[in-house]
Amino acid sequence: MAAASAPGKLILFGEHAVVFGEPALSTAIDLRTEVYARPPPEWLADGASLDSPKYRYVKAAATRAWRDGPLWFETRSMIPVGSGLGSSAAVTVATLGALQSLGGTFDVPAIAREAFEVEHEVQGRASPIDTSTSAAGGGILVRRDPGSNLLWSISRDTRRWSLHRCSLPELTFVVGDTGISAPTGPLVAGVKERVERDAKVASIVRDIGRITLDGLAALQDGDLEAAGRLMNRNHEALNALGVGHPMLDKFVAAARAHSYGAKLTGAGGGGSIVALTDDADRTARAIEAAGGRAFTVTSDADGLRRIA
Ligand code: MEV
Repeated sequence: MAAASAPGKLILFGEHAVVFGEPALSTAIDLRTEVYARPPPEWLADGASLDSPKYRYVKAAATRAWRDGPLWFETRSMIPVGSGLGSSAAVTVATLGALQSLGGTFDVPAIAREAFEVEHEVQGRASPIDTSTSAAGGGILVRRDPGSNLLWSISRDTRRWSLHRCSLPELTFVVGDTGISAPTGPLVAGVKERVERDAKVASIVRDIGRITLDGLAALQDGDLEAAGRLMNRNHEALNALGVGHPMLDKFVAAARAHSYGAKLTGAGGGGSIVALTDDADRTARAIEAAGGRAFTVTSDADGLRRIA
């Protein structure tokens, strides 16, 4: 038997724009997924068929990365599904980690690359931000060109992403989950279509790239007020890309009364908001009063880990 554990993620700035090669900033969080793999006589996941849509990332990972006989997977996750917190990336990375471990290796950069391919196959157009953050843990800055603190670069078609280790201060975030699960693939495809049709939308994608770099500088300077204002601007820009939802607007308005700033996080269309705050209790209560499910998460340095 072998097992691996991988974290979920929060995108602080730059989702969607990162698919076009703009900068984005994310962090791994203290919610994790574990995957156990052992070789008995038939393919199973949690005692059920691997063909169930629930296990499509596990199945795609096994199809790409396992050449021997059938496996029995057991999965456990603390990351709510479809909430923008990287549950699919974490299960993909943890599955590939368990498979490599069964085969006697544990090559994290190779797993990050393979996980991006799995996500691309299952979800369609994507960037490696979710899968690489889950594999590496900690703060991650994605840029097109490699710079200092480079972890790895990943290319697809004519696009290239360079994933960098990025040190962030210890931060507390309150997540407000709408409970509306919106698949990422169609949201990403919708943005591509709007960008190709409308030059104004293309310029919003570039604005998000600039907001990301300003947001990173603000966080690293400890200027949380400036970082919060930039999160608010990033939220409005994401609305202008067409990935908002009235519930997300309601939650960010409620959260902003007690936080530095708030924005949707992940693909949008539902999913969650993230608020940067030093008053987590009041922020969480405000989100709950607005009809959301709120919980506090912290950034976590731990990426993919072998657990058995
Ligand atoms: C989803 O967590 C992040 C998106 O930018 C998609 C991607 O980068 O693959 C919306």
